[in-house]
Amino acid sequence: MSQAEPSELFRRQRDHLFFTWSVQSQVGPLEIVDAAGPRFATRDHGWLWDLESQVYNVSAGHRHPHIQRRMIAQIEALPAAAPNAVLPIRAELGVLLRRHTGLHRAFLTTGGSEANENAVKMARLYTGRSKVITRRSSYHGATLAILGIAGDDRKAPFAKDLAPALHIDDPYPVPEAAAGDPSAWVASLEAVLEREGPETVAAILLEGFTGANGMQVPPPDFWPRVRELCDAHGILLIDDEIFSGFGRTGRWFAVDRWGVRPDIMTIGKALTSGYAPLAGVCVSQPIAAHFDDHKLWCGLTTYAHPVSCAAAVGAIEVYADEDLPGNAERVGAVFGEHLEGLRRRPALAGMIRDHRGFGLMRLLELDRPTTGLAALGLQRGLYIPTKAEKVLLCPPLCLTAEEAGEVAARLGDTLVAFARA
Ligand SMILES: Cc1ncc(COP(=O)(O)O)c(C=O)c1O
Repeated sequence: MSQAEPSELFRRQRDHLFFTWSVQSQVGPLEIVDAAGPRFATRDHGWLWDLESQVYNVSAGHRHPHIQRRMIAQIEALPAAAPNAVLPIRAELGVLLRRHTGLHRAFLTTGGSEANENAVKMARLYTGRSKVITRRSSYHGATLAILGIAGDDRKAPFAKDLAPALHIDDPYPVPEAAAGDPSAWVASLEAVLEREGPETVAAILLEGFTGANGMQVPPPDFWPRVRELCDAHGILLIDDEIFSGFGRTGRWFAVDRWGVRPDIMTIGKALTSGYAPLAGVCVSQPIAAHFDDHKLWCGLTTYAHPVSCAAAVGAIEVYADEDLPGNAERVGAVFGEHLEGLRRRPALAGMIRDHRGFGLMRLLELDRPTTGLAALGLQRGLYIPTKAEKVLLCPPLCLTAEEAGEVAARLGDTLVAFARA
């Protein structure tokens, strides 16, 4: 379908509301008129397979009736309440979080950036130390404090006013200088600890599985050795599962793949399947116990918002009842085989440099920038997120194996058209 004229609705919204992360005049219309399961429909392009799950959050799929019913019931029962009010829906969510994260108690926020802010505050309060180490490529949120701590190019316009961050090397890919030694990265962590003094470090903050920064598959010893070093020095391990959590990688949480238990886990995005704003900081028993007799200097007006809690309870029930983590693992494997098939296609000779990921959190790395690829995808019924040379593939976790085949076929056509363009 050709690019239609922006509608009156688009112009009205653009005149009065900002779009995120963009030069405002360059944002094209994405006017959503319908949605169901792994797809949504726009005014200009009809039905599209949602390979970004909106913002990597609509994991249960669009308009899931169970989540909608949970939210409507809470709106009718009590749509607003003070942060410390006691409500059945809050207690219910607490129990579910305990069951699925294995951690003891949660502090709830409205978004993932705030969750990481509060995780850092809690780590500082608990340890009495201040420093936080992150990976050189890592995204943990958009607020100034978190941009300062993490390693993402979205900090660039503010960098001159931020204190230098403490980074370890990415454990992927293995540096050329260390060919054959996939654990070379550990030297950079040891070096940072030695330079800064481990007794000054409150926490190491890592994404369960890196999302926007390229789905870098770590060597098998990465998480266990970070855990070991944290234990040796009394440093807290914070696992950011905001992107990778709630089944996206084929496990409830990405870190489960490496059998490591963090001290703190931050969650967001799919926590409510994107149906309402909610994120959280889940902490281990010793940290929870610390705040039984020390003040928790954290709070927000819409703390544990009742309707958001209902969305989270509904979403977690869907993930468990429909085994969406298991589905992501199984359908992800089928999808992965199709993607490997695309790599072998003569018409795409060498264009796909790499395919990696877990479950339904996958990526293709091309030999060239992806400029123009998303527009070709729209013409073939695909909504494809891209970044530099990377094509991110994160559909809702309710995708079936048959649908994965259809998405891969459309993606193949899109890539062939892109190769010829
Ligand atoms: C790994 C990770 N952490 C934190 C965030 C920030 O979450 P939010 O955008 O809800 O503030 C994101 C968002 O993309 C993320 O991918």
